[in-house]
Amino acid sequence: MSNIVILGAQWGDESKGKLTDVFAENADVVARYQGGDNAGHTIVLGDKTFILHLIPSGILRPNTVNVIGNGVVINLETLLREIDGLQAQGVEVNSDNLKISDRAHLIMPYHKMVEQWEQMGSTTKIGTTSRGIGPTYSDKMNRHAGIRVGDLLEFDHFQKKLDYNLETKADALQSGDVTRHSLLETFYRYAERISPYITDTVAYMHEVLAADKRILFEGAQGTMLDIDFGTYPYVTSSNCTVGAVCTGLGIGPKVIENVMGVSKAYVTRVGGGPFPTEMPPDLDEHIRDIGKEYGATTQRPRRCGWLDLVALRYATQINGLTAIALTKLDVFDTLTDIQVCVAYRYKGKETTIFPSSLKVLEECEPVYETLPGWQQGLTKARSPEDIPQRTRDYIKYVSDYLNVPIPIISVGPDREQIVQLGAPLW
Ligand code: GDP
Ligand code: IMO
Ligand code: MG
Repeated sequence: MSNIVILGAQWGDESKGKLTDVFAENADVVARYQGGDNAGHTIVLGDKTFILHLIPSGILRPNTVNVIGNGVVINLETLLREIDGLQAQGVEVNSDNLKISDRAHLIMPYHKMVEQWEQMGSTTKIGTTSRGIGPTYSDKMNRHAGIRVGDLLEFDHFQKKLDYNLETKADALQSGDVTRHSLLETFYRYAERISPYITDTVAYMHEVLAADKRILFEGAQGTMLDIDFGTYPYVTSSNCTVGAVCTGLGIGPKVIENVMGVSKAYVTRVGGGPFPTEMPPDLDEHIRDIGKEYGATTQRPRRCGWLDLVALRYATQINGLTAIALTKLDVFDTLTDIQVCVAYRYKGKETTIFPSSLKVLEECEPVYETLPGWQQGLTKARSPEDIPQRTRDYIKYVSDYLNVPIPIISVGPDREQIVQLGAPLW
């Protein structure tokens, strides 16, 4: 098996960063294909914690080339800060191990202001990360306003596009302090610093494919935040599901051999929107405390809920998952009972189909199965023999319901806190 996709099977923050770092040990290339610095991917190595927003989670592995594909939207301020931060921590980042697509769109400082402006005028409280993600993808699709990384290399062209944006976005920009002069100055500096990294990543990906290199595709956000399949409009502005691997990097679907969905043993969600299995306040707080469920990007408390197998099966179908990594099992170590949602009850009838209507979803009541807790510490487990029978039963229950193998579980934040249950995926 030479290629694998690692993507979020829930509402984001499933531990994709950790799993990507673990699997990147055997990867030649790690490529991000969608999202932007709304992502926060945490990797813990002993007493060092790294939170990555734009740079792929293969960067901590020497000999891995990290690609930011055309489907990603890039805030250069964040990216340069991230490069500086990693270098200050002794991590090698250079134009050999980081390649940025010339076709990727830029998040401009005015996109955050447009987002704020739009939020003020709307009754839908999405609770975004305020990183300007929506307005940037809107400009990309709109075609007149979008600015691509490659435009920085033709600065006259960049300047013309900037002028168009400053004119058409004048209303939203009234409240802020962006001036044409300061933007040109800033982006001229950015262009100088970023130009060595700018690559035709489509050509690069095909070079590595032809050389039969091992590629790991790293997703951001999660299936239930997908613009098409998520709980619209309480979603992000990109496709976070498997199709985005192709469109966000310029590769064909046959290249994708293995699709691993990452799921917590429970569910969390940051921001607004319906969430059928949300826990009652005392339990929600308890799980948030043990699981340290605070956003890696915005530090907002994450809402916690029981594992929702209806939503997870939907994610399995949409992505064609070939495996699931179940994470944060250790957070359940002290519980006596664990609930899993096996169906929704809508107007008195049970269903296992995830509804497209938000109104229907809001009226769905979860139907729970209760499984016994293991009441043992998992954090020191490293091999299958260290896993208590009740934990195995829980894992088997989830795997059987979804009809997808769970060959790997995570029992703590550290890179080492992982247990391989089945045959290695690659
Ligand atoms: P991502 O966005 O999917 O990469 O996930 P985040 O990094 O936003 O959130 C996952 C959080 O859980 C981070 O703080 C991780 O350090 C932590 N974490 C990852 N795996 C485990 C685990 O198995 N157990 C516990 N207790 N924490 C974990
Ligand atoms: P990672 O990659 C969790 C959520 C926001 C909000 C919605 C839209 O770390 O899993 P946006 O700023 O994207 O327009 O916000 O999506 N959201 C995430 N939630 N993890 C993320 O990324 C997220 N990225 C966006 O909270 O509800
Ligand atoms: Mg995250």
